[in-house]
This record gives sequence, C-alpha cells and structure tokens, in this order.
Amino acid sequence: MPSDENAPLMGSKPKHWSNVKKRTMFTRTVIALALLFGVAGGVAWFTKATSSTGGGGDTNDPDFSSLRGFCDDIEAIQPSEYLERHARLAETLPEGGALVMEPGPTMLYYTNIEWSLSERPFLVVLQRAANSTITTTVVTPMFEATRALEAIQEAKLPMEISIKVVEWIEHGSPYETTAELLEEASHVFVEPGVRLFVYDGLADILSQQHGVVTTMASRALQTLRMVKSPAEIAIMRCANRATVAAAKKVRHHVKPGMTEADIASLVTQALTAAGLTNTWVLALVDENAAFPHGEPGATKRVTKHSTVLIDSGGELLGYQSDVTRTFFMDNGDRNSHNQTIVDAWYLVKSAQQAVLHDAHAGSTCAEVDLAARHVIDRAGYGRYFTHRLGHGIGEEMHEEPYMNQGNTHIKLQPGMTFSVEPGIYITHEFGIRLEDIVVVTKDGNLELLTDSLADNPWTL
Ligand SMILES: *[C@@H]1O[C@H](CO)[C@@H](O)[C@H](O)[C@H]1NC(C)=O
Ligand SMILES: *[C@@H]1O[C@H](CO)[C@@H](O)[C@H](O)[C@H]1NC(C)=O
Repeated sequence: MPSDENAPLMGSKPKHWSNVKKRTMFTRTVIALALLFGVAGGVAWFTKATSSTGGGGDTNDPDFSSLRGFCDDIEAIQPSEYLERHARLAETLPEGGALVMEPGPTMLYYTNIEWSLSERPFLVVLQRAANSTITTTVVTPMFEATRALEAIQEAKLPMEISIKVVEWIEHGSPYETTAELLEEASHVFVEPGVRLFVYDGLADILSQQHGVVTTMASRALQTLRMVKSPAEIAIMRCANRATVAAAKKVRHHVKPGMTEADIASLVTQALTAAGLTNTWVLALVDENAAFPHGEPGATKRVTKHSTVLIDSGGELLGYQSDVTRTFFMDNGDRNSHNQTIVDAWYLVKSAQQAVLHDAHAGSTCAEVDLAARHVIDRAGYGRYFTHRLGHGIGEEMHEEPYMNQGNTHIKLQPGMTFSVEPGIYITHEFGIRLEDIVVVTKDGNLELLTDSLADNPWTL
C-alpha cells in the first residue's frame, strides 16, 4: 500500500449505562430478527453466487487448497530473542536512560505484552541499570492488575527478564507513579506513538519535581526496531511469498464479468488458505487503478482487455506482508493489449530493477526513492508517479523507514525491510503499480523477500 493510515486509537465506550440497559431488550429483539433475515439473505446470496460464479461462466469453485500449510514450518519469535532486543536497547540507551511506551508494536517488540489502549494509561518502562542490563516495569491501573499479570504470563518471556508491576489507583495519578520510578533517570525517552496527554502528564512532573528531561525517542532508539533479526526476516519472507503465491493463483480465476469485489473476495480466500490473518485487499480494474488507494467496488467489471491491479497482504506470527501485482487479461499476446499500458508496465518494472541494482547499505532513503524516480522521469512519466517509492514493513504494515526523496537523514542498514512500489497513475485512464518487499543483506545488497519480481504482465 502506498501510504499511511491512522488506525483509531480506541473504541468509544457507552457513557450512560442506564440508557444502555433500558435499550437492551429492544436491542435483543432487533438482533434476533436481524440474524433471521441475515441467514435467509445469506442463503439466497450464496445460491445466487454459486450458480453464476463471477458472471463469467466459470463453474469451478476456486481451489486454493494447494496454498495450505504454506508457512507451517516457520517458527514464531523465540523467548531468547527478547533478551537480544533488551541487550541492543541497553547498548543504545545512555547510562541511566529510560524508554517509556504505551501498548502497541514497540511494547510487543520489547515485552510481547498485548494490551488495548484506553483512556487509562498502561505503560512499560525500560531502564538501563548501572550494570547495563535493562529493568522492565509495567505501570497498570490497579483494578486491572490481575489481568496485567495474565498478560505478562502470556508473553512467555525468558526467566532472565523479570517484570516489576506497579499499580496506580483509580483516583491517583499514573504520571506520579511512573515519575517515582524515573526520579533517578538521566534522561527519559518516550516512544513516538505515546499519546500527547500521556507524554505531557509525565514530562510535566518529571521536569518540575525531579528535574528530569523527557523527549521523544532518539533516532538511534527508533532505528533498533527497523533492523530485523534473521527470525523476523524468515517470518516476513514466508508471509510475502505466500502473498505473491495467492496473487498468482487468483490470477487464473479472474474472468471477464467479475467485479472488483469478486476479485477481492478471491484474494481473501487465497490469503486465508495460505494461513495469513488480518488480511486486506485492494482490487482495482482499468481506470480505477489510477487511484492508488481506491476501494474495490461492486460495479466495475473486468473485460477481456482489462488491466487488473491487486494490492494485498496479511499477518503471519505478528509480521505483515504487502505485495502488488498488476496484470492484463489478454492471453499473453503482447500486441493485443494497449501498447501504452504495456510499455508503462515494463517501465514500472525497470524502476524496481533500478532500485535493486543501485540501492545498498549506506544509501539514504531519498537515494533509494530517486533510483526508481529517475527511470520513470526519463521516460516522461515523472508527474504520474505521485507517491513515495515505499515504506518500512515489519510488525506494522507501514513503519519507518520511509523511502521518499525528502528522507535524507535515514540510511539503509543491513536488516532493514521495506517495500519497492513504483507506480504510474493517469487519472481516468489507467494505473500500474508493482510492489515487492526487500531486505538489506549483511553484505549490503537488496534481496527480495518476495523471491522474484513479476516476470511479465500476463503470467506474473
Ligand atoms: C543488574 O542490576 C539490576 C538492577 O539493579 C538487578 O535487578 C539485576 O539483577 C542486575 N543484573 C545482573 C546480571 O547483575
Ligand atoms: C491506449 O491507452 C492510452 C492511455 O489510456 C490511450 O490514451 C490510448 O488512446 C489507448 N490506445 C488505444 C489504441 O486504445
């Protein structure tokens, strides 16, 4: 996917319990009726869908069973890896430094603790002790302490990482409780994702009562999570290969007459068969693909001359995949497809190849972006490559480092993983994007986690 989304931070909770209660009986009735009609409607839809699959006369149900078990031999992150993460953090934090985080990817990275964000702060404090080990403290609302202990147990951390739990009382201040832990700290860093009211509450008390400075995590601290371990790379390699395999399988089942929504549903089935969870799909046909973030619709249909873009991904063992393939419905006859669009496809591919060839450890993210952009510029399509080249990927589908021509301060390091996804988008005409995931290897080159680039726009 070419750009950022901001997930909502928390669900809203009903404010007036008495009203909620009064409505309960009514709500139950409505739910029961809805279920009844839902089931009837579902049966009708299913009958219709199976009797006219795809509207293109394809009577075979797509069979994605060959994708089953695709990543079964991939190991989850082992407990000992959390010790390595703490050791790297200890090397990067200054003496007496501390890192504070809220629930989210960084908390999972260092502690494997899963917790939902709510208005009541739940924090993890990682501090570098005098002996250069990391001490871990969880700050939890007191009434949630039992659940917090369960979450810590479920994290299955190695014995060497012991976690201290500190509770804050409902009418008390989570910031005072946290500041007491940090009064001796030389410097407190907060993760960039920490919400402003939490940062503000903590920084205020730390500076006024203890003279401790609180800032956002330094670039060096943020870089730690960008550099992936062999175990993380193995998971991401399989997740992304599975996503390519799903796109290739689906391509055989895309028939004239299908809608974008039909294609999206096939991709979801294929990704799920391959064992990915939290899957998502953009399936866009012809001029709709000119919207980099278009929504698959139920009206636009594939013709036998269509250009089809599938951008999809999912999660495996806590890590994300993200792959785009654009293909043509003509049967591999180079002259039967619109020549402008064929040329654009090969141009986008050569922009990907330029990145693989030119970028290496030490390149700035700006240089990585420009390696692709120059190719597209030279062919006269520069103004139609409207977004950055790519984004980091890992626990999050979009994370640092971002490959854009303004990002001159981050340089590639071995272990960094990111998308290479140039595109050409001509509004009301067509859109082409190809997206593969790469890792920077130990010897400084880029290696495809997707195995290989799309070979051609017909067979992929
Ligand atoms: C290092 O110091 C911390 C905090 O004082 C202590 O809890 C821990 O046991 C020490 N670890 C080692 C290996 O000495
Ligand atoms: C091919 O596609 C381009 C871009 O959409 C369009 O301008 C051109 O008219 C098309 N050519 C033919 C022969 O349809």
